[in-house]
Amino acid sequence: MNLMMMAILPIPLHSPSPPPPLRLLSPPNLPLFTFPAISLRHRYVTVRASGSSSQYDTNPPPLLQVNDLKAKIVENGVEILHGVNLTVNQGEVHAIMGKNGSGKSTFAKVLVGHPDYEVTGGSVVFKGENLLDMEPEERSLAGLFMSFQSPVAIPGVSNDEFLVMAYNARRRKLGLPELGPLECFSYLMEKLQLVNMNSDFLNRNVNEGFSGGERKRNEILQLAVLGADLAILDEIDSGLDVDALRDVANAVKRILTPKNSLMMITHYRRILDLLNPTHVHVMDKGKIARTGDISLVETIEKEGYETVPSLT
Ligand SMILES: Nc1ncnc2c1ncn2[C@@H]1O[C@H](COP(=O)(O)OP(=O)(O)OP(=O)(O)O)[C@@H](O)[C@H]1O
Ligand SMILES: [Mg+2]
Repeated sequence: MNLMMMAILPIPLHSPSPPPPLRLLSPPNLPLFTFPAISLRHRYVTVRASGSSSQYDTNPPPLLQVNDLKAKIVENGVEILHGVNLTVNQGEVHAIMGKNGSGKSTFAKVLVGHPDYEVTGGSVVFKGENLLDMEPEERSLAGLFMSFQSPVAIPGVSNDEFLVMAYNARRRKLGLPELGPLECFSYLMEKLQLVNMNSDFLNRNVNEGFSGGERKRNEILQLAVLGADLAILDEIDSGLDVDALRDVANAVKRILTPKNSLMMITHYRRILDLLNPTHVHVMDKGKIARTGDISLVETIEKEGYETVPSLT
């Protein structure tokens, strides 16, 4: 399950107790739309002299700008991120690789405001705003989505109830009327098809009894329903069979537009070949140690992680 959805719905992060009962209002007869509706804010216009005439260019600022980000584990005070630097622009696909325990998931969780971690230094600007000042819920409303490496189950809450609640909670936050059951149903069916999931999954409790691969697919369903300017997928490919991997990659491709971006944490080349990252980063000891293109993956495959950071 997605952290943002847990934040929007009052579900404690460490206990899978069910959220309040679902409230469905009558259909408001509004057109359906994909979140977030504020993705075109924060654009700026530069004026440049070109020969005898002025030319107006629209250059979006970076979607995400991370500078020297440091963070520690709240419980024991151990610093895990030792100064992460990363810039993500609109339309880019970033892969983050690195050996086990190098801090990839911690980095992702710090970005979405996971309470296990405390930021001790640096800055993160998302769409021109200070991300670190925002609550997890606000980060979600601003267009940030994260799927967890190990999605949790919520016993007693059906998938469709959960998705409708999360979707309508976001509409309420944006000052829009909730969608009624009929509109929600057709919206969810459309997204199910995108992920190539059986509609039976809507009636089952969130992730309860789901196989590892089904949970990953369900994460992508949540992304498809909620939309995102920046989707962070933590090992979405782990445990997927060949068909599921293709379905997930196809769904992600269809969600991607020139305006939104993807950050995917992975250990494997298979999904990178399907999603064509524009940037490949290697994380080592809580920092981005190396950045390159897809050819960096070949180097990693040949030489392993021990030598790659030293090639910088
Ligand atoms: N909440 C926590 N409590 C204790 N230790 C933690 C916590 N979160 C992260 N760590 C530790 O921080 C280090 C980085 O963990 P992280 O999960 O970010 O690694 P990772 O790069 O995602 O690894 P993997 O590839 O195995 O998923 C690890 O040593 C991990 O044990
Ligand atoms: Mg991890």
